[in-house]
Amino acid sequence: MKISFIVNNGPVTINTSPSRRLVDILRIDLGLTGTKEGCGEGSCGSCVVLMNGNLVNSCLIPAFKLPDAEIVTIEGYAQSKEYANLKQALDNAGAFPCGFCSSGIIMAAGNLLAENSSPTEAEIREALSGNICCCGDYDSIIEGIRGVTAKPQSRRYGKTR
Ligand code: FES
Repeated sequence: MKISFIVNNGPVTINTSPSRRLVDILRIDLGLTGTKEGCGEGSCGSCVVLMNGNLVNSCLIPAFKLPDAEIVTIEGYAQSKEYANLKQALDNAGAFPCGFCSSGIIMAAGNLLAENSSPTEAEIREALSGNICCCGDYDSIIEGIRGVTAKPQSRRYGKTR
């Protein structure tokens, strides 16, 4: 099956099985290894990307759903000023001891901040409820997200799952 879609603002065309998972297409075919695979069944949030402005677990997205879709991975988000502010705040808080979950959590946090530049702790916990940190360092992650300067965020990073 020949599929054309957009990844990080660039056109992509691949030949693949309709059932192939987006996480594999991103990591193996396109070399976008910032998207991680943890559970492989939609439970951990390591593989989160934006699809048409919505957070999705890329391990659950088959290739046949991709034609004309717009995908943003952590590599794409990392080009934004919003990412730089968020990453700095998370670094300042000492978040992500091992880093495996960081791309999924940063995508979810960036999506939250795009809608709400001053989230409460409860709102942050709700927004990250689909993301598991293997190290259990949620307090540092929340501290980091709350440390982001409350500037208007881009609307480009869409809605919630
Ligand atoms: Fe996709 Fe865990 S690898 S949700």
